[in-house]
Amino acid sequence: MSNSSEATDLRAYRQIVQDTLQSLKLDKRTPHALYAPIQYTLEQEGAKRVRPVLALLMQAFLRPEAPLVASPAVALEVFHNFTLLHDDVMDNSPVRRGKPSVYAKYGLTPAILSGDAMLILAYQMLSEEVAPEMLPDLMREFNRMATLIMEGQQLDLEYEQVDYVSKEQYLEMIGYKTAVLIATATHFGAILSQGSVTERKHAYAFGWSLGIAFQLQDDYLDLYGDSETFGKPLGGDILEGKKTILHTLAYATASQAQRQALTEAMRRPNEQTEEKISAVKALYDEMQVATQVQALVRDYLAEAQQALESLEASSGREATQLRAFVSKLAERNT
Ligand code: IPE
Ligand code: IPE
Ligand code: MG
Ligand code: MG
Ligand code: MG
Repeated sequence: MSNSSEATDLRAYRQIVQDTLQSLKLDKRTPHALYAPIQYTLEQEGAKRVRPVLALLMQAFLRPEAPLVASPAVALEVFHNFTLLHDDVMDNSPVRRGKPSVYAKYGLTPAILSGDAMLILAYQMLSEEVAPEMLPDLMREFNRMATLIMEGQQLDLEYEQVDYVSKEQYLEMIGYKTAVLIATATHFGAILSQGSVTERKHAYAFGWSLGIAFQLQDDYLDLYGDSETFGKPLGGDILEGKKTILHTLAYATASQAQRQALTEAMRRPNEQTEEKISAVKALYDEMQVATQVQALVRDYLAEAQQALESLEASSGREATQLRAFVSKLAERNT
């Protein structure tokens, strides 16, 4: 491929995801009230499709000549969207992808029940188009991933109640709630292309580092992003008492007096929305956490890049696309 923008174009993979979701014919299913929130979520334009695109791209990278297996890749997207329905309830988030969250638009009961239906839909899709001998591996990895996400989500909630979490605790929590799913996506790519044990290991390591960088950037954008592009009002994590990387780095850098000030700012009532967010942000700025997070994101992306280099796979178009995927993540603002 001579043209570099063509070489890094992921539209074909996104189209496969779109087509697979369309083939579910959610608009035809009844009871309509159960499937409408599912369709609303799965067909939203703002969804980046990071996980299924990675699962497809990893297949193409490892075995460029083999046909792509879409259904289990898209099962990860359905599962991801299921976690978002419940996450928005847990995080009290009225807006996602620039639109009302399912919780805000349809209510608590649909967020729970349509979410549950999406979880089962993801399981159904997991086994479609798949050679029977691959199924035990996919199933084991999927179940491991799903359990760890819930453990990570639980830690995320528990940490709302404490004044401080260490960098180790934070990394463990985001490893579970976010990195495991992205690592499972790249791992799925290796399993579906019948990769060797070594290929599977490197594919997982690649997704893991990418996933950590992804959540660090998500925490950063929650305060320092552009709310319109990011699709959520800024400062939501502060209002929910989330122990983000911003908080962990600020606390670790702070003097005794600054720690006290940070704890007080985080404890301010949410009715003082703007004042609370600016008070915390002012302290983060004092500790230059934004610069620190960006450096950390670059470290994890370099780690991902290294795992990618360890894969002795196609050096053609797919390698360029995967590398571009990694560098774009550092600049992402959505
Ligand atoms: C949001 O994931 C949840 C996190 C793990 C930070 P994405 O940012 O991939 O969400 P969509 O699907 O593109 O909206
Ligand atoms: C992402 O956590 C992890 C899951 C949704 C499982 P966040 O709570 O940070 O995700 P956003 O910011 O709501 O997308
Ligand atoms: Mg959350
Ligand atoms: Mg959330
Ligand atoms: Mg977030």
